[in-house]
Amino acid sequence: MKGIVLAGGSGTRLHPVTRAVSKQLLPVYDKPMIYYPISVLMLAGIREILIISTPVDLPAFRRLLGDGGELGLSFSYAEQAAPNGLAEAFLIGAEHVGDDTAALVLGDNIFHGQGFASILQQQLRRLEAEKGCVLFGYPVRDPGRYGVGEADETGRLLSIEEKPAKPRSNRAITGLYFYDNDVLDIARTLTPSARGELEITDVNRAYVERGDARLIDLGRGFAWLDTGTHESLIEASQYVQVLEHRQGVRFACLEEIALAKGWITADQAFVLGERQASSGYGDYVMDVARRMGADRPSS
Ligand code: DAU
Repeated sequence: MKGIVLAGGSGTRLHPVTRAVSKQLLPVYDKPMIYYPISVLMLAGIREILIISTPVDLPAFRRLLGDGGELGLSFSYAEQAAPNGLAEAFLIGAEHVGDDTAALVLGDNIFHGQGFASILQQQLRRLEAEKGCVLFGYPVRDPGRYGVGEADETGRLLSIEEKPAKPRSNRAITGLYFYDNDVLDIARTLTPSARGELEITDVNRAYVERGDARLIDLGRGFAWLDTGTHESLIEASQYVQVLEHRQGVRFACLEEIALAKGWITADQAFVLGERQASSGYGDYVMDVARRMGADRPSS
């Protein structure tokens, strides 16, 4: 499976903060926002990842992430000239996906929950064996702000609507989508919606109409955090801070995930930590690497 992180858009709701800096590079406590969606793809086992952003912001993502080789990943980059909609990711990313399955994650979506990695891997395997798409639903108080799905008791999606005035369920469709290769053809048939965008909800509706769309509920015990406003952004940072301090672990630590997956060695991870040694994040990476066998003295 190939991964795509869509990290463009204009971030107008966070102006003036995002006038000169991409929203997806803003800190969520101790790391840039885009680390969180990248970590989701990594936890699913996806190593070939295309980062899509605006022509202005793309160089900053490249500076932050490089070619991914140091993490045992492969990052490539592509521009989205204008915010023409989420589904445009599959026009821009068609070559990257090739004849494989694809996972799209929005660069501002943060997920956290026990057992998430195994849910992701299980769904990925299922998608590779069966056809269709897998969407992830999350119960929210205000579903009308999101894509909203209605599923039967087996998890088959019966309907999906974008920001409905009268939502048929409280299940928001989160910004993580797994598709079979047909997504490329479906994306090519789309026409812009009333707001002028190629809507991911229209892609998903095509799968619903084929009876091929599954909804996995991320319910209680999961966090799907919003980063769309100044308030929700600071709340997301506080959530990460509270859990990391209490548990003494960091989440969305890319070096730690790469090491746990066996994509890099403990010595390689140590070097990556050492390079950021003046930050708590760097110290953490060095500690993890020592615990996992890097032969380095503790400081
Ligand atoms: O976060 C989940 C929701 O994301 C889903 O429930 C909705 O079905 C889906 O349409 C989307 O809704 P949003 O209202 O959050 O979409 P928004 O236009 O804010 O874009 C989401 C992110 O994607 C945002 O960080 C900007 C980025 N983006 C957006 C567009 C339209 C792009 O990179 N390129 C684009 O063309």
